[in-house]
Amino acid sequence: MTRNFPDSFLWGVSTASYQVEGAVREGGRVPSIWDTFAHTPGKIAGSDTGDVACDVYHRYAEDIEQARQMGLGAFRFSVAWPRAINQVGLDYYDRVVDHLCQAGIAPVVTLYHWDLPQYLQDAGGWANRDTAYYFADYAESVAKVLGDRVAIWTTLNEPWCTAFLGYASGEHAPGVRNQAAALAAAHHLNLAHGLGAQAVRAVLPSAKISVSLNLNVARPVTDSLADAAATARVMRVANDIFLLPMLEGRYDPQLFDDTAAITNWAFVRDGDLAQIHQPLGVLGVNYYSPSYVSFQPASQSNDCFPGCDHVAFAPAKPPLTAMGWSQEPSGITELLTGLARRFDGLDLMVTENGAAFEDVVGADGLVHDPARVAYLDAHINAVADAIDAGAPVRGYMLWSLLDNFEWACGYSRRFGLLYTDFASQQRTWKDSAFWYQNVASTNCLS
Ligand code: GCO
Repeated sequence: MTRNFPDSFLWGVSTASYQVEGAVREGGRVPSIWDTFAHTPGKIAGSDTGDVACDVYHRYAEDIEQARQMGLGAFRFSVAWPRAINQVGLDYYDRVVDHLCQAGIAPVVTLYHWDLPQYLQDAGGWANRDTAYYFADYAESVAKVLGDRVAIWTTLNEPWCTAFLGYASGEHAPGVRNQAAALAAAHHLNLAHGLGAQAVRAVLPSAKISVSLNLNVARPVTDSLADAAATARVMRVANDIFLLPMLEGRYDPQLFDDTAAITNWAFVRDGDLAQIHQPLGVLGVNYYSPSYVSFQPASQSNDCFPGCDHVAFAPAKPPLTAMGWSQEPSGITELLTGLARRFDGLDLMVTENGAAFEDVVGADGLVHDPARVAYLDAHINAVADAIDAGAPVRGYMLWSLLDNFEWACGYSRRFGLLYTDFASQQRTWKDSAFWYQNVASTNCLS
């Protein structure tokens, strides 16, 4: 069945600074929390670091050319705060945006994709309220340089990961394990979003502001009331902790009750919610797989889900991707249609979706990745289902253009449409790249 997408639908790819740029000591870039974390023994698989990554800092023009050949209309990338603190860094992103515009590709800019300058972490990082104000200053300086060439300004990527993987489980930089600090970080990230949005709008009044959230598609294992309540708890601390302040200017009082043993939320000050609640041009949605939740009578700690001590997460159901994640396209339909129902009039965009598999370059020099093509085909069909059901989905940004530094997994997980040979930096189009080229250039799935 051929499925057509709306005329102005944006097809793109997503990348993030620390995962692709390398050149960590060039252009006056200062260290970030990910430099520190990656260089700490035992934190990253294979002791990999982002020191070189995909060398995009030097190769951005070639990579943008690949995106142009793929027929893409948009390119989502992040600005590295530790690089953009000086003019050399700002000039670099100015050139990137110029190249994208010359290639006819709309720049979708993320201001924060996890690489906090280390000097801010030394002062407490996101657990310190001041970081939100520094973020707004930084956002303003980037907006002044990149200006109205940017199609979408995304304040934060996946604040859930920043707060809870960064400050609760410690799986990600800065590697802190403290649930109270994680909840404070979540609030300060909300505040940063609101202050950052205002800072960008002060420079560019008609800027389209966004934020990309990895919302948890939590499904109860049974239809028991206990499992439904456990699922609702997960959704409060994983999703509503960001959605409600940003979109409705409030927290759910139930979230305060759920987490009362951890913090009294004194870090929420008068007036904060009004600062956080700023008009959004489009909500970015990152989706990979759902989770299955049940009530657990015995208390157990779920580091990343404060207040969820009586919650159990079921193991992922095969077929799994190389990340060990299940493949359930219906989750993206459920997510998009659910958001459309809940937040009437809010435009949506898929800002990440994709899959890692164990790709190899064959003797013929080609990379056959049928599992990725099948994953993408099923998920993009599921996005079309959401559109058919009335969800205002404006685009799809595939994760990712090229294999890159996959955080704690280092270079062991390949998500790219382009295969990256990390020794030679050669890029090879996988079958999925040709497949996606066809989708993007015809604006339909066939
Ligand atoms: C995230 C990040 C990306 C990841 C991707 C695959 O969603 O965790 O935004 O940087 O690389 O999601 O895990």
